[in-house]
Amino acid sequence: MTKVKIVGAGSIGNHLAHGARRLGWDVAVCDVDPAALERTRHEIFPSRYGSWDDAIRLASPAELVGERFDVVILGTPPDTHLALALAEIDRAPPRLMLIEKPLSPPELDPCAELVAAAARKEVRVLVGYNHRLTRHTALAADWLKDAPLGEITTLRAMTREHWGGIFAAHPWLTGPADSYLGFTSRGGGALGEHSHAINIWQYFAELAGCGRIAEVSCMLDEVRQDGAAYDRIAQLSVRTDRGLVGTIVQDVITRPAQKWLRLEGSAGYLEWQVSVDADHDLVRLVEHQGRVREERVARTRPDDFRGELEHMDGLLSEPKSPSPIDLEAGLETMRVIVAALRSAREGRVVRIGD
Ligand SMILES: NC(=O)c1ccc[n+]([C@@H]2O[C@H](COP(=O)([O-])OP(=O)(O)OC[C@H]3O[C@@H](n4cnc5c(N)ncnc54)[C@H](O)[C@@H]3O)[C@@H](O)[C@H]2O)c1
Repeated sequence: MTKVKIVGAGSIGNHLAHGARRLGWDVAVCDVDPAALERTRHEIFPSRYGSWDDAIRLASPAELVGERFDVVILGTPPDTHLALALAEIDRAPPRLMLIEKPLSPPELDPCAELVAAAARKEVRVLVGYNHRLTRHTALAADWLKDAPLGEITTLRAMTREHWGGIFAAHPWLTGPADSYLGFTSRGGGALGEHSHAINIWQYFAELAGCGRIAEVSCMLDEVRQDGAAYDRIAQLSVRTDRGLVGTIVQDVITRPAQKWLRLEGSAGYLEWQVSVDADHDLVRLVEHQGRVREERVARTRPDDFRGELEHMDGLLSEPKSPSPIDLEAGLETMRVIVAALRSAREGRVVRIGD
């Protein structure tokens, strides 16, 4: 039976513990905070999924040190990811590791250390940009296969979502300054927390054969309040190495949320949306001179992670198969985050790699 250790008994730790149990995995969840383990057993898990699952082992990190797992999942704040990942790889390397998004705070050098350690110990590392593995994204990828949009002219993506929902799910936090969320430098703010938009932009650019982001121009709306220091709006103009120009917007203030992408071509367009209503994601492909395809894909919150976990299950049997959420893809997103910050601070266009 596949053994998984989930580090971090918070919001994402519970979702992934539930998803892993649905696959029949042997699940252990650990957290430095005993109160988080208590909340998992008595509040978060039962309120989300009906009842506590006694097969899940709850432990302190020390209790699991040295124990071998096939899979390790890091569901902790971004500023803990790299140190935890390096320690796991060093002490008891799993076959597969999933690090939640964003990979780290906005710094690239420490990420390079992780890349080297993972290669040395042959640990396959993934980064949790789960939108790449939902059913509606798979459908969109399939529809794009025969290039129905003609010449691609632009690509726009946004993850605009008020973070009131996150704070409602964490009633023990009194505000942004209580967690990484309130600090862009720790991987929070709109740039880090809602980096799903950068990542899904990159995915669709890749699917459409439009290359990787090479230039970034960014404007941030930065807030300093009650001890917190974060960007509440991040607006990026980007250009790929193949010349595609597009926009990416992320914010923590829009209510209700807009998680949307549109790929524009000379012969039509594709629209992709998360939560078009409470129960559905949407994908629509319009050919100006031809057919219109539209599907509303039914989803629940656990479905957001189902594709990701099934994909990981598949990788355990086929370790060499490609993954859209490989470490390199998560790093590509971090390169854009770092370039965006530099662009905003220095008031200029930043070329990635300069
Ligand atoms: N992919 C998604 O859709 C999605 C959704 C939610 C959160 N996330 C990501 O997951 C990560 C965690 O977010 P969250 O909302 O679950 O946070 P959270 O605050 O609810 O939970 C994090 C938990 O990690 C624990 N922790 C911190 N340091 C630790 C350590 N060194 N060892 C063990 N436990 C430790 C904390 O005590 C806390 O209980 C973030 O990177 C966030 O962006 C991703």
